[in-house]
Amino acid sequence: MLLWRQPLPDSWLPKVLSQLPAVLVDHAHLERKAATSALNLEKYRDLHGKVDALNAIAIEELQHFQLVLALLRQRGIPFTQAHPSPWISGLMRALRQGTRGQVIDHLICCALIEGRSCEKFQLLGRALAECDPELARFYNSLVESEGNHYATYLLLARDIDADDTDRRLEFYLDLDAELIRQPHDLPILH
Ligand SMILES: [Fe+2]
Ligand SMILES: [Fe+2]
Repeated sequence: MLLWRQPLPDSWLPKVLSQLPAVLVDHAHLERKAATSALNLEKYRDLHGKVDALNAIAIEELQHFQLVLALLRQRGIPFTQAHPSPWISGLMRALRQGTRGQVIDHLICCALIEGRSCEKFQLLGRALAECDPELARFYNSLVESEGNHYATYLLLARDIDADDTDRRLEFYLDLDAELIRQPHDLPILH
């Protein structure tokens, strides 16, 4: 897994735990957006040969979306509006223009989102073990899949241009470190 340059702020976990129902709605949207991101990547010429791998991720994310929707229904939480994430917008704003640079940056952003999700789901799995074992099991069950998505996106980028990917990963890890420190009170995972 990635070596983040900045740990999650200590405030992240208590903030999420204090507004869990709203965060679950955000999580549903996150899985929905993860599915569409995988499909959106198929627009790049450099990834036309990888549609099967990207479809496989999209299908898994759609399954995750369905699982979160089932949890929402079970808990009587309505599926409502999404809040944009300042962290994700900050990463995406830094995409380079021009086909080759853009596809590599886009893959790195997707990898970082998957990587942070993986880290956060692990933390939630641990934190909820006593008070909400069902939700803890659910978060633990997603960790491996999001970790695999992280690795797949990074490998796809390195397949296109390994040196450029490594250089841009340096840039994006610094950007993540800067953005992750910016506080907000939105009921969102990222
Ligand atoms: Fe997912
Ligand atoms: Fe994922």
